[in-house]
Amino acid sequence: MRTQVVIIGSGPSGLLLGQLLAKAGVETTILEQKSKDYVLGRIRAGVLEQGAVGLLEEAGAATRLHSEGLVHEGIEIAFDGARHRVDFKALTGKTVTVYGQTEVTRDLMDARAAIGAPTVYEALDVTLSDLESERPKVRYVEDGKDCEIECDYVAGCDGFHGVGRRSIPETVLRTYERVYPFGWLGVLVEKPPIAHELIYINHARGFALCSMRSTTRSRYYLQCRLDERVEEWSDDRFWEELTRRLDPEIARSLQTGPSIEKSIAPLRSFVAEPMRFGRLFLAGDAAHIVPPTGAKGLNLAASDVAYLSRALIERYSVGSLEGLDGYPKKALARIWKAERFSWWMTQMLHRFPESSGFDQKMQTAELDYLFSSKAAQTALTENYVGLPY
Ligand code: FAD
Ligand code: DHB
Repeated sequence: MRTQVVIIGSGPSGLLLGQLLAKAGVETTILEQKSKDYVLGRIRAGVLEQGAVGLLEEAGAATRLHSEGLVHEGIEIAFDGARHRVDFKALTGKTVTVYGQTEVTRDLMDARAAIGAPTVYEALDVTLSDLESERPKVRYVEDGKDCEIECDYVAGCDGFHGVGRRSIPETVLRTYERVYPFGWLGVLVEKPPIAHELIYINHARGFALCSMRSTTRSRYYLQCRLDERVEEWSDDRFWEELTRRLDPEIARSLQTGPSIEKSIAPLRSFVAEPMRFGRLFLAGDAAHIVPPTGAKGLNLAASDVAYLSRALIERYSVGSLEGLDGYPKKALARIWKAERFSWWMTQMLHRFPESSGFDQKMQTAELDYLFSSKAAQTALTENYVGLPY
């Protein structure tokens, strides 16, 4: 078998890349180790920057997003008994769209099926070879049979635990990491959201976030310890703890119910440079992880894909390698800014177990400054709605 680009992973980055390349006539095969239902069952991000929405439009996968997505013009930050609104629209003229990653994935899968581009689900034991040659090879096992595809390029869109980054020799790869001493316990519930906008809460008992997926489905998160297990959190315990972290006025609007998903995610910052080895290019979580506080994970995957798709299209349309050679530098410049923003939001909104009295005073001063300064709110907004690309 032979194709132009083999894409490893059918998460948002792999699917979006596949769709943008297909629109430009570039042939791709996607190899995904899990089943389609498994991929669609993962509950993850919920907030899209305008740039990501624009790319989904370009990919021909934004019809449902425009009819069902919720456009948000700001967020609220709760601290010390008061709620403060950051007005994105007034400060920058920009907005974000609340639309679940699960829906983005479904729309992209449908768009891919409509053009008849191949995806191999449950492709096991994927290995990459000859990456520094002109004919890279990708081997995998499908239904117990060994298969091989020869291609021009490999896109490692296979997330943090994928094979893409692991195929880059240690002598070439540089990694940067911060692991945070807490996680997020998330609950999805079939009840209307507590408010029209997202509320980020810095509370003495720990961070909390009130988010949503639609006008009838809500997503809530609680900062938890890393040694806690989901089984220790009954729905009742979750709602009680969330209520404690909300101010009494807003808590009255909380509609609770049985959780339809509950999971714990650890928080981590991670970047792998240089995102390229020979003809292998990494995009999305394969190359970087952000703590979720700034809602940047999925959006960063989208901006990587924007750069990489343009570079590959340039290579196939005019034969230029300039875009591909410049990809790591261009992508990493934006990635590090999103890393900084996610780290800053995490630092500002969580309670750190080892934090000193001085650290706590710094956090309070940071928040007081943010609430009182239009310049500080503009800086938050510019990053939250998404830096240009
Ligand atoms: P992924 O979505 O991880 O997709 C990679 C795909 O590659 C997967 O389908 C995987 O099965 C496949 N794959 C892996 N290894 C192989 C292999 N060897 N062979 C073939 N296929 C392989 N971001 C936010 O902004 N907000 C959130 O609330 C949020 N919550 C999250 C919760 C969790 C538990 C996780 C893990 C991430 C969360 N994120 C969140 C981050 C966001 O979901 C990711 O940034 C986004 O999914 C990145 O997309 P991706 O396509 O690069 O990677
Ligand atoms: C969601 C997750 C985030 O990390 C965030 O900052 C906002 C919303 C969500 O899952 O809805």
